[in-house]
Amino acid sequence: MRARTTLAAVATLVTTTLVLAACADQDTTTPATAPGELPAVDPYDITGTPSQPDVDLDITRTSMTIGDASVARYLYTVDGDDTVYGAGRPLVVDVGDTVRLTATNDTDTATNIHWHGMSVPNDQDGPEILIEPGASHDYEFVAEKPGTYWYHSHERPVRDQVDEGMYAPLVVRDPADAGYDLDQVLVLDDWLLGENTGDMEVVGDVDTVNGRTGADIAPVTVTGGEIAKLRLLNASTAKTQWLTFPVDVRVTHTDGAPLVEPYVTREVEIAPGERFDVELALFGGEDETLTITNERDNGMTIPLEYTAGGATAAASPFAPPAPTPLDPELLTRAPDVEMTLGDRMSMGSGMAWTINGEVYPETESFDLDLGTTYVMRLRNDGAHAMDHPMHIHGTHFRILTVNGDPVDAEIWKDTVTIRPGSFVDIAITFDKPGTWMAHCHILDHEDGGMMTSINVS
Ligand code: C2O
Ligand code: CU
Ligand code: CU
Repeated sequence: MRARTTLAAVATLVTTTLVLAACADQDTTTPATAPGELPAVDPYDITGTPSQPDVDLDITRTSMTIGDASVARYLYTVDGDDTVYGAGRPLVVDVGDTVRLTATNDTDTATNIHWHGMSVPNDQDGPEILIEPGASHDYEFVAEKPGTYWYHSHERPVRDQVDEGMYAPLVVRDPADAGYDLDQVLVLDDWLLGENTGDMEVVGDVDTVNGRTGADIAPVTVTGGEIAKLRLLNASTAKTQWLTFPVDVRVTHTDGAPLVEPYVTREVEIAPGERFDVELALFGGEDETLTITNERDNGMTIPLEYTAGGATAAASPFAPPAPTPLDPELLTRAPDVEMTLGDRMSMGSGMAWTINGEVYPETESFDLDLGTTYVMRLRNDGAHAMDHPMHIHGTHFRILTVNGDPVDAEIWKDTVTIRPGSFVDIAITFDKPGTWMAHCHILDHEDGGMMTSINVS
């Protein structure tokens, strides 16, 4: 594996396209093929799949093989299909579609569903709609904005349900996405098979991609002269993933929102809840198998199978949006809303995670006006020095400043990491009334109290 990464060093960036250079002593090992138990159809390769806005969603309890281990898990699946898709069955719809989804809870635990990142009417979003065992609930909403989203349980303890697999990707396709030769979802997670080594969070010891680890991970297959879109989603309840690519990739979307200025990189840090869409456009060279890896050696080795071809790089079908003018007053305005994130030992119940000194549901809530833009300051003042990826339901927000320094690029997010001792100011406008939650997406912290609500009217 090590030798392969050095090979990557010769890949050359040409404007926004990539040349994958040949290497004389290339490793010709082919990656292990998937064992027979894996589904024949890869539901995470969504290239050209039809929109499926009418869905019967089953919430089930089953087991899954990870490496040699069998783990009990929840699974979101559709239309009675009992195939264990390792990261749940992706929902794929086209922008503008009306999603009509009936969710049936076939487990013995009450649950609910939140459409993470989606702008849906408040009464169609899940945190307050409990689905008891054996019960069903109908949801209906329009997929207003294209992007990579996901849906997951929001029933506390959220950590337990999401950690055991109550999640799946939700992709709202843009017409331009049809221009990709490959459109693939990569759901990153970590499963705990041994002892918990996390300090105050449960961190898994086996890293998975679409529910598979190590040699079972399905390769990303790219052909020279073509262009691929990878939709990266971190479904982990606590672990940030630091992905390293062996070639340059171009980031086009953050949390489903298109970037005005896409950027080229080889490293992507993905906090729990976040999504990054990246493009790969290679050409020339020779056949190679490279690997995409994370920062530790716990199974996250994604083969990147390159088939040589193409005299030139494919053009990206992605058209960045026009910049949204930023009212400069927002950069100097004192925050309208402040959330200071903290922690403290609480009597008897371990760690308390706080917003403005209180634990949910005692946290201060905020009343905001529909359609008004607010400056919100998220400050990490915790004694336990760790990141808090803060997530807000119901809308995207724009990053204004980090520690008071303006952010040059226009970046819209629904989840933003606040580093220890730092603060981030965001501009946020709600266009749908109702009560929207805001919380840390390290779900141990959310369950431990770092959550509040924003009442929009
Ligand atoms: Cu993805 Cu309130 O969560
Ligand atoms: Cu959410
Ligand atoms: Cu946190």
